[in-house]
Amino acid sequence: MMKRKLQNILVTGGAGFIGSNFIHYVFEKTPFEGRIINVDKLTYAGNLENLVRIDDEYGEKRYFFERVDIGDFDKIKMIFEKYDINTVVNFAAESHVDRSIFGPKAFVQTNIMGTFNLLEVARECWIKKEKDEILFHHISTDEVYGSIEEGRYFCEDTAYQPNSPYSASKASSDHLVRAYYKTYGLPATISNCSNNYGPYQFPEKLIPLMILNILEEKALPIYGDGRNVRDWLYVEDHCQAVWKILNKWNVGETYNIGGENEWENIELVNYICEKIAKVKGKDRDYYKKLITSVKDRPGHDRRYAINCDKIKQQLGWRQKFDFEKGLNMTIKWYMNHQSWVDRVRNGEYRKWIGNNYDLR
Ligand code: NAD
Ligand code: DAU
Repeated sequence: MMKRKLQNILVTGGAGFIGSNFIHYVFEKTPFEGRIINVDKLTYAGNLENLVRIDDEYGEKRYFFERVDIGDFDKIKMIFEKYDINTVVNFAAESHVDRSIFGPKAFVQTNIMGTFNLLEVARECWIKKEKDEILFHHISTDEVYGSIEEGRYFCEDTAYQPNSPYSASKASSDHLVRAYYKTYGLPATISNCSNNYGPYQFPEKLIPLMILNILEEKALPIYGDGRNVRDWLYVEDHCQAVWKILNKWNVGETYNIGGENEWENIELVNYICEKIAKVKGKDRDYYKKLITSVKDRPGHDRRYAINCDKIKQQLGWRQKFDFEKGLNMTIKWYMNHQSWVDRVRNGEYRKWIGNNYDLR
C-alpha cells in the first residue's frame, strides 16, 4: 500500500447526489490542494445547484465543470489532456432501479458503455504516465450481489447475482474495471456501497420521497409487504470511505462500504413519520395513516446486508454518523431547502442549462 499525491481528479457524475456530496466533502473537509474536474451529462438527476457554493469559492481555479457524456470518447480524451487527469472517480450512472425496469437502455449505455469508454480513454491517455501516479476508482453498489437471506452478509468475494437491469449494468461495469486492471495493468479500485441518504438526494429515492410526502401529507407508497431490508449509510460516510481508498491507493482491491444499519422499509417509514410528527408537534402516529401499500417492484431484492470489515481493518474507515443523527440532519435539510425541492419538482433546476456548459 502506498501514499500518493492527488492532483487533478476527474469526478464523473459530480452533479448528482453522491458526486456533489463528494465534491463538497473533498473541498470542505480534507486537506486536498489540487483540482476537481466535474464531468456530468446533466440528466434529470444532475443538478448544478448542488454545487453553487463550490463554484463560487473554487470555480475556474480549483473546480471546473464540463457538461459531457462519459460515453463520448473524443470529449473525454480532450478533458484528460486539458486537465492532465491522474485520478478518476466514476460516480456517473443511471442510478434508479425503478427507471431501469421501465427503460433499461440508458442503463446499458451509461453504466456499461460509458464506463467502458472511460476505461479506454484512461488506457490510452495514461500510457506514458508512471503507474504510481494514476488511479481509476469505480463507484458501485451492493446490489450486484443480489438478495441475501437473514443472518448472512455480502463480503467482497460473494458471487455477483444481479437481479435488476440497474444492478446487472453495474455488475457489468465492475467486471470491466477488474478486467482492465488484470489485463492491461490499469491501476484500479472498486467500492460497493449500500443505500445512501442525505442532502441533495433526488426525491425519487425512498428517504427523500417519504420526507417530502409526509411534509405535504401525501400518500406514502410502500412496495409489496414493506418487509424488504436495506442497509442505510449517511452519504458523507460514503464520501469519507472513497477518499480513504483514493489516498491509500491499494490497487486491484475491492471494498464493501455499508452502514451496518438494516431496516425493513415499513419500519423505516414509520420511524420517519414519528420523527417528523415530533418536529411538527403532532401526535406520534399522525402521519402513519398516509402509508399505502402499492404493487411490488418486479424482481424486488428482499434483503441487502453488507460486511464492511475489510475497509475498516485495511483503511481504518468507520461510520461517523449514527442513523438517528444522520436522519435528523437529512429531515432538517429537506425542511430548510424548500426552494431546492420546489425547483427540482417543477423542473426549474434544468431551465438554465445552456450551451455555456458545453465543452470549452
Ligand atoms: P444520481 O442519479 O443522483 O447521479 C448520477 C449523476 O450522473 C447525475 O448527475 C447524472 O447527470 C450523471 N450522469 C448520468 N449519466 C451520465 C453520462 N452518460 N455521462 C455523464 N454523467 C452522467 O446517482 P447517485 O445516487 O449519486 O449515485 C452515484 C453512483 O453511486 C452511481 O454509480 C450509483 O450506482 C452508485 N451508488 C449509489 C448508491 C445510492 O444509494 N444512491 C449506493 C451505492 C452506489
Ligand atoms: O443498495 C444500493 C442502491 O440503493 C444503489 O445502488 C441505488 O442507486 C439506489 O437507488 C438504492 O437502490 P434501492 O432500490 O434500494 O433504493 P430505493 O430508494 O429506490 O428503494 C429503497 C427500498 O424502498 C426498496 O426496497 C424499494 C422501496 N421503495 C422505494 C420507493 C421509491 C418503496 O417501498 N416505495 C417507494 O416509493
